[in-house]
Amino acid sequence: MVEIEYRKTRIKLGDTDLVYEPAEDSFLLADAALKDAKPGMRILEIGTGSGFVSSVLLTNLKEIYLVATEINPHAARCAKMNGVKVIRTDLFKGIKSKNPENLFDLILFNPPYLPTSEEEKVPGWLNYAFDGGISGRDTLDRFLDEVRDYLKLGGEILVLISSITGLDAVKAKMEKLGFEVEVVARKKVSFEELMVVKGKLL
Ligand SMILES: C[S@@+](CC[C@H](N)C(=O)[O-])C[C@H]1O[C@@H](n2cnc3c(N)ncnc32)[C@H](O)[C@@H]1O
Repeated sequence: MVEIEYRKTRIKLGDTDLVYEPAEDSFLLADAALKDAKPGMRILEIGTGSGFVSSVLLTNLKEIYLVATEINPHAARCAKMNGVKVIRTDLFKGIKSKNPENLFDLILFNPPYLPTSEEEKVPGWLNYAFDGGISGRDTLDRFLDEVRDYLKLGGEILVLISSITGLDAVKAKMEKLGFEVEVVARKKVSFEELMVVKGKLL
């Protein structure tokens, strides 16, 4: 099985026809999360894929509690193999909201962020890694509508988007939902610029 190493962490990739292979977006989010997260935090990663970002945090941070969700069963299996506690579910389903035990300091999501038409969909479970709907923001918008119910007051979210996802639309939605918004990381990759957007719940 193919393995990669990143920030002192070895990650098994599984079948990359079925599970998203960590790429520049995953690396940018993992590095931003490493800067933001503190020992002792309760962290939730939505859409963990191979478990890459969560594994990097678990290796490099002491005493964090981390749980992840993932809709693709092949990816959920891969993340488990990489030592991530993962719930196979759609976004937050399966985590009871507003229960103090289910409130987090930090919630991460590298969503499917590409604007995708019917003809551009890829077959099978892997489509969930890429398909952001026509706007590129379908899954991210659903995430943003629900995420407050799982955050402690003063808690933060880190979401990965691309310049083609539309920073202004994402910022406007986050601000409307009560977040203070800041772009905390950027990287140009061929035709797009990847960004990590931080939202702090006021
Ligand atoms: C761009 S990939 C990122 C994977 C991994 N976090 C990384 O950074 O390498 C997006 C991931 O989110 C998952 N996903 C998409 N929609 C989801 C949903 N509604 N609920 C849970 N996971 C979802 C996909 O299956 C995929 O694994």
